[in-house]
Amino acid sequence: MDGFTIRVATAEDEAALSDICVRTADRGKDASDHYSDYQYPGLIWALPYLRFCRDTCLVLTRHGKVVGYAVGTPDTLQFEATLKNSWWPELRQRFGQRAALSPGDRYVLDYFHEPEVAPNDIATRFPAHLHINLLPDAQGKGMGRELLEALLCSLKRSGATGVHLGVNHLNEPVTEFYRKVGFAEIARLPSIIMAMDLCAMGTEIVHRCDPK
Ligand SMILES: CC(C)(COP(=O)(O)OP(=O)(O)OC[C@H]1O[C@@H](n2cnc3c(N)ncnc32)[C@H](O)[C@@H]1OP(=O)(O)O)[C@@H](O)C(=O)NCCC(=O)NCCS
Repeated sequence: MDGFTIRVATAEDEAALSDICVRTADRGKDASDHYSDYQYPGLIWALPYLRFCRDTCLVLTRHGKVVGYAVGTPDTLQFEATLKNSWWPELRQRFGQRAALSPGDRYVLDYFHEPEVAPNDIATRFPAHLHINLLPDAQGKGMGRELLEALLCSLKRSGATGVHLGVNHLNEPVTEFYRKVGFAEIARLPSIIMAMDLCAMGTEIVHRCDPK
């Protein structure tokens, strides 16, 4: 696999996840200059999974360096309840005195007070959800598909029967990637919600889930 390896994430991957998150947060492009603190987007879209759902957090490494991640939770409603009690209060405390120096900062600091939650009907029908991000040098080599399929296996093993995800409508071309792995669009909120039934997962993916 050209030096690529997929493994379960560890607590030591925190800085790498924050870095990859901000470098892909602007519809897949580098958003570092949108925030006064590079950690901000990772605190929403990457690190809570590492803290509370480590078993369903995978990293892609190349020659030992983390170049991508796929993080998810098998149970969105339970995850949101955990964050409500144990993650957002901690961030409000930690960053409560911070001033917003850009619209990106404003979005994140407001988000700590009013985090987005999944519509109940979607989280009930497709209980798991996920995020996947690869650094530009790792993209376009088939590794996103490998990583996503490995995460789907992991979510299924954790008991999830279905999975959903959101795509920023300004990043619509990426929906093609998810379609190729078996997702279908189910709603526009306006973010594009895509979902997949893990019980009806394609046989090639199921085969990959089987222990070798
Ligand atoms: C989206 C992403 C995870 C895809 O991973 P990748 O390694 O680049 O994709 P792969 O090489 O595994 O591609 C698998 C298939 O999806 C297609 N595909 C991948 N990205 C695509 C895109 N942006 N638009 C259209 N098709 C795409 C590939 O052409 C390939 O098709 P094929 O199987 O017919 O050859 C990766 O490009 C990425 O992290 N992008 C930046 C962050 C981002 O946008 N994340 C998603 C947020 S919702």
